Amino acid sequence: MSAANISRQILPFLSLLCLFSVAYSDDLQILLNIKTTLQNSNTNIFNSWQTHNPICNFTGISCNPDGSVKAIELSNQQLSGTVPFDSICQLKSLQKLSLGQNSLHGPITDDLKKCENLQYLDLGNNLFSGGVPDISPLNRLVSLYLNNSGFSGTFPWNSLSNMTGLVDLSLGDNQFDSSILFPDVVVGLTRLKLLYLSNCNIQGQIPPGIGNLTELGSLELSDNNITGEIPPEISKLGKLWQLELYNNSLIGKFPSGFGNLTSLQKFDASQNYLEGDLSELRSLTNLVTLQLFENGFSGEVPVEFGEFKS
Ligand SMILES: *[C@@H]1O[C@H](CO)[C@@H](O)[C@H](O)[C@H]1NC(C)=O
Ligand SMILES: *[C@@H]1O[C@H](CO)[C@@H](O)[C@H](O)[C@H]1NC(C)=O
Ligand SMILES: *[C@@H]1O[C@H](CO)[C@@H](O)[C@H](O)[C@H]1NC(C)=O
Ligand SMILES: *[C@@H]1O[C@H](CO)[C@@H](O)[C@H](O)[C@H]1NC(C)=O
Ligand SMILES: *[C@@H]1O[C@H](CO)[C@@H](O)[C@H](O)[C@H]1NC(C)=O
Ligand SMILES: *[C@@H]1O[C@H](CO)[C@@H](O)[C@H](O)[C@H]1NC(C)=O
Ligand SMILES: *[C@@H]1O[C@H](CO)[C@@H](O)[C@H](O)[C@H]1NC(C)=O
Repeated sequence: MSAANISRQILPFLSLLCLFSVAYSDDLQILLNIKTTLQNSNTNIFNSWQTHNPICNFTGISCNPDGSVKAIELSNQQLSGTVPFDSICQLKSLQKLSLGQNSLHGPITDDLKKCENLQYLDLGNNLFSGGVPDISPLNRLVSLYLNNSGFSGTFPWNSLSNMTGLVDLSLGDNQFDSSILFPDVVVGLTRLKLLYLSNCNIQGQIPPGIGNLTELGSLELSDNNITGEIPPEISKLGKLWQLELYNNSLIGKFPSGFGNLTSLQKFDASQNYLEGDLSELRSLTNLVTLQLFENGFSGEVPVEFGEFKS
């Protein structure tokens, strides 16, 4: 075989190798940027983030088979500083970004919307400031945790409209600007199993469409100013094991059919203006906790409560 022939066969292979190592060194540079930005954190997790180690061996990093970064998992690591989303979102294959339960501060920049491949995003339990930017391009998200993280301003509810694969949505414990209406967009997210919107200035009525979220296991809407009645459609949520409605402005009686929520284990509707008797709750035999204080209920405690073994 002539030399020319050999190089014709080897060259494509060599250039593939080259491409591979270019991609690899890009991700390395990005990770080193992240390390520099967060290096004042009181943690030693970055000790393994050294150029002589393969990036896939960096603590908190996992890779795809091709060596590109797939996941950054640094929650609960005492991280402080501002998050360099401009760098992070250059990681083309990033599917999981987990930075919850740290002391990260500063704004969430617009760069976040470039993290288009994210399926899991946890920025919850930090000390961020400012609003949540438009994140509509992140429509592959399955889990989104932004709870208790210092956000304010108007939440970009429209960004959720194409996130039809969302299973966990947790936005509560942030002081968003109050909107007159309940954010209707969430009732289109029919895969949801967890919806946490407590303590984030939600007003208006629970829409009847809530009954479409039939996969919901946990629905938390406490500490808002939700008005109107509990819609009868809520009784379609047969998988609900937790329903937290306390400290709102709900009125009226338990809707007929509410007793169909027999999976309920935890139910709290305290501190509202609910009235009528408790007979609708007779069939909720799996209840573990039931709190209804500070309402306008009347009548007798149903004898069936005595049979609630849990
Ligand atoms: C990377 O991690 C693997 C598995 O823990 C280990 O076998 C390997 O020696 C590490 N490579 C380097 C260069 O540290
Ligand atoms: C709040 O966010 C954390 C992640 O930061 C998550 O583990 C936790 O379950 C969330 N809490 C609720 C009530 O959704
Ligand atoms: C949702 O997707 C449709 C169709 O691709 C697009 O026209 C629309 O702008 C998207 N909405 C948002 C909020 O991104
Ligand atoms: C609930 O689902 C039904 C049937 O799929 C649909 O016709 C209705 O528009 C949905 N309601 C909302 C508020 O999304
Ligand atoms: C009730 O919720 C409001 C927010 O809507 C909050 O300011 C208040 O502290 C809550 N009350 C109690 C007793 O937790
Ligand atoms: C709750 O909403 C009602 C009706 O919109 C309003 O009259 C009331 O002032 C609100 N309460 C609080 C504490 O914001
Ligand atoms: C409650 O469940 C029963 C039996 O599945 C059903 O016939 C009834 O229509 C349900 N009630 C409501 C209000 O959903």
